[in-house]
Amino acid sequence: MEKRDSWGSRLGFIMAAAGSAVGLGNIWKFPYTAGSNGGGAFVLIYLIFVVFIGFSIMLTEFAVGRRKNLAAVGAFKSVDKRWTFAGVIGVLSGFLIMGFYPVVGGWALAYVFKTFTGLLSAPDAIGDVFGGFITNAWQPLLWMLAFLLMNVVIVARGVSTGIEQAGKILMPILFGILIIISIKGLTLPGAAAGMEFLFKPDFSAINMSVILAALGQAFFSLSLGMGCMITYGSYLKKSENLVSNAAIVTGMDTGVALLAGIAMFPAMFAFGIEPTAGPGLVFVVVPHLFAEMGGVGVLFAGLFFIALTVAALTSSVSLLEVVVAYLIDERKFTRRNAVLASSGVMALLCVLASLSLGGVGPMLFGTGAFDVFDLLTDKIFLAVGGALLAVFAGWRLNKEELKNEITNNGEVKFGIFGLWYGLVKFVIPVVIAIVAIGGILDGFEAGKGPIMLIGLGIIALFAAISKKL
Ligand code: TRP
Repeated sequence: MEKRDSWGSRLGFIMAAAGSAVGLGNIWKFPYTAGSNGGGAFVLIYLIFVVFIGFSIMLTEFAVGRRKNLAAVGAFKSVDKRWTFAGVIGVLSGFLIMGFYPVVGGWALAYVFKTFTGLLSAPDAIGDVFGGFITNAWQPLLWMLAFLLMNVVIVARGVSTGIEQAGKILMPILFGILIIISIKGLTLPGAAAGMEFLFKPDFSAINMSVILAALGQAFFSLSLGMGCMITYGSYLKKSENLVSNAAIVTGMDTGVALLAGIAMFPAMFAFGIEPTAGPGLVFVVVPHLFAEMGGVGVLFAGLFFIALTVAALTSSVSLLEVVVAYLIDERKFTRRNAVLASSGVMALLCVLASLSLGGVGPMLFGTGAFDVFDLLTDKIFLAVGGALLAVFAGWRLNKEELKNEITNNGEVKFGIFGLWYGLVKFVIPVVIAIVAIGGILDGFEAGKGPIMLIGLGIIALFAAISKKL
């Protein structure tokens, strides 16, 4: 077998996998999604999905990737060409997520500079500054390009040098800053109401679209459902313990999301900002939080946005790597050309996404590009991708082979193998099917149904032509 690059050390792998998982999904998306889906009940459902579906799927992705020693598409294809589409859907998800992720990464980068150039000196204007900035035509595009360029440089250098080093240095910095911000948020007067909103479930707010949002959030935040962790797993040494790696990464990712919530909600309630404020939440709450502190506040807010940019970067490189690994393994590109071609397409998608926030550009059923990319991936492709992987592992792969891979041929104890296998084979596909169908039906009320149906159509189409992919 041809020799593949592998992770230099165990810590290197965990840091890189956690670096992929922890990102804008935790710090930007989780708080505003929780806020607009009713708070505590959403958080509870999200946690249940993380434990029962997220952890199981992450373990499955690691096992399949390492077993087959191939990135997402190759791992499916090498077993059965009828399954190639499941990997290709993942590559498509990579393109689409990278069609808006660098836009938000660019906002974070821009906010580092805005923070140090006087954003906090006019607290009342902070909300308007954000609205004005993202609807501006040119500014966000330049920041997006700067962010995307950083990805290109890191991924072009290759997996064990580029991604691993970036993750190792930058992740611990992020943890530290988030803890500082959480403590600051909790000491504000009125903090308790925010904690109550976040952790006290109000089940009257639950419907199928809230449940689908929680499922999508779990997949997005854990970097699951598109072969990202299959790809990372394929670089993992045979001696590594997959179960503990999956548990650590899932735990860290969920911890950071909750920490981000604790950093955001108490402050929001103290300032009277609505939890339903939407995608601008972090960009408004954090500057507000630190505005009253003078110079120290500027420093903390600046550090926060540096950390956010870094967290976004260690995630987006993993998305880019899925697409790049596909082009290298399956389409025989050189790494350099793979990076240039894929990031070129992503840049174009990002231009559409960014302009759509200012009301410019094409719409699909009244929805702009940014929201279309988000809807297709977060609500459909990732969860369905996860269900497909579960069916593939449960029904197409050999049970003994999986057991040997997960337990390193019996060396690692995994007492709940049977439970995991049952979840993957039966429960997860059924639960995801029910939630997706219910969520799509609910989505028709909000006008999002047609787009989600198109997503299912694309998957069906790819499945039909799978052998040609
Ligand atoms: N998990 C990352 C975040 O929370 C985003 C991400 C990286 C991702 N790789 C992924 C999402 C793969 C889905 C699939 O920001």
